[in-house]
Amino acid sequence: MGSTCKNRQKEEKMEYTASTAEQHIDILNLESLRDRVKENTEPGAFGYVAGAASDEQVLDENRKAFNHFQLVPRVLQNIEKPDMTTELLGIPLSMPIIGAPIAAHGLMHEGGEKVSAKGVGMAGTIMSVSTYGNARIDEVENENPGTPKFFQLYMSDDDNFNQYLLNMAYENNYKAIILTADATLGGYREDDIKTGFTFPIPMENLASFSNAAGSGQGMNIADIYAKARQSLNLADIKKVKSMAHGLPVFVKGIQDPEDAVAAIDFGADGIWVSNHGGRELNGAPGSIDVLPSIAQAVGKRVPIVFDSGIRRGEDVGKALALGADVVALGRPMLWALNLGGAQGVSDAFNHLAMEFNIVMQLTGSHNIEEMKKAHILTK
Ligand SMILES: Cc1cc2nc3c(=O)[nH]c(=O)nc-3n(C[C@H](O)[C@H](O)[C@H](O)COP(=O)(O)O)c2cc1C
Repeated sequence: MGSTCKNRQKEEKMEYTASTAEQHIDILNLESLRDRVKENTEPGAFGYVAGAASDEQVLDENRKAFNHFQLVPRVLQNIEKPDMTTELLGIPLSMPIIGAPIAAHGLMHEGGEKVSAKGVGMAGTIMSVSTYGNARIDEVENENPGTPKFFQLYMSDDDNFNQYLLNMAYENNYKAIILTADATLGGYREDDIKTGFTFPIPMENLASFSNAAGSGQGMNIADIYAKARQSLNLADIKKVKSMAHGLPVFVKGIQDPEDAVAAIDFGADGIWVSNHGGRELNGAPGSIDVLPSIAQAVGKRVPIVFDSGIRRGEDVGKALALGADVVALGRPMLWALNLGGAQGVSDAFNHLAMEFNIVMQLTGSHNIEEMKKAHILTK
């Protein structure tokens, strides 16, 4: 890396300031948070989080596809307060909603993942920490020992780095590994090109590894993904399991029933249905459209997490009724982090839970098992 680039990195580090907010936030609905963040955030950072691939049809489709399914109201079911508590891998959850793994929380808040994990813990659910987080795996644990955590692995070509990360996750009490399989390179994201976005702050898991080629700081998304293992294959599931000290491994980015079955055959302990929030393959289906066939193929052998487009209580209800065990919250968690820190993140989860409570009551679902059996029409 030339000295000009190094200087640019230094300047960017000095210049970048993220939110330090720590407060309750008013939430009309989760999507409305996006524009409030846009007003106050550096355009490159906002575009990195909000943006998606190519013409962004999948980003839209992830929302629109929920309309292909309709929850049938039920009456006279004698419900007063539905019980939305549940569990995933034996971890008790206050709601069937967990945090999705997202890179670079430090773009949205100075405290980054340490603060989001606090908010997620306050809401009583699971925090997923990305390989490309701005806080190290152990730092997130040290500040939030009470919050259950999953670690998301972008498998690198360097197995020493993979082992370094998996050791740290195991030693720091993480409960599962999420092996992300749908992003062996980055989608074509025009927002990042328009703003010339490079990560202004380091990714601490990279920065702390002695043989890393860089900390991520001053690098663009293509540089970052260049370190990922592009030739990822089924045998890598077994490999990750053998390196993960017995932790269960979810495979994330599944959109095809055949891939789900193959992943389970090769040892996956959970299937994570996701299209990466429309950031990878454009022209793909809305994520909820593929959930029913995947759930059928999985046949309850392993738990299913669903994400991509979750914004409303009814989205949660539909995902559960179509075969998911829990859903994961993506971008809105970061908007809330920016606007309100840990309290904001907790408020966002609780808002979604409030909307979901209405859905449970009006579909006649006393508890999550009944929600999963709610009657649903397909258009
Ligand atoms: C800014 C951003 C960064 C992301 N980083 C990661 C990541 O590091 N690892 C990963 O597995 N998924 C990552 N994702 C995908 C999310 O886990 C999730 O699949 C997606 O946000 C769901 O779409 P939604 O936010 O529109 O609901 C990222 C998504 C966004 C928006």
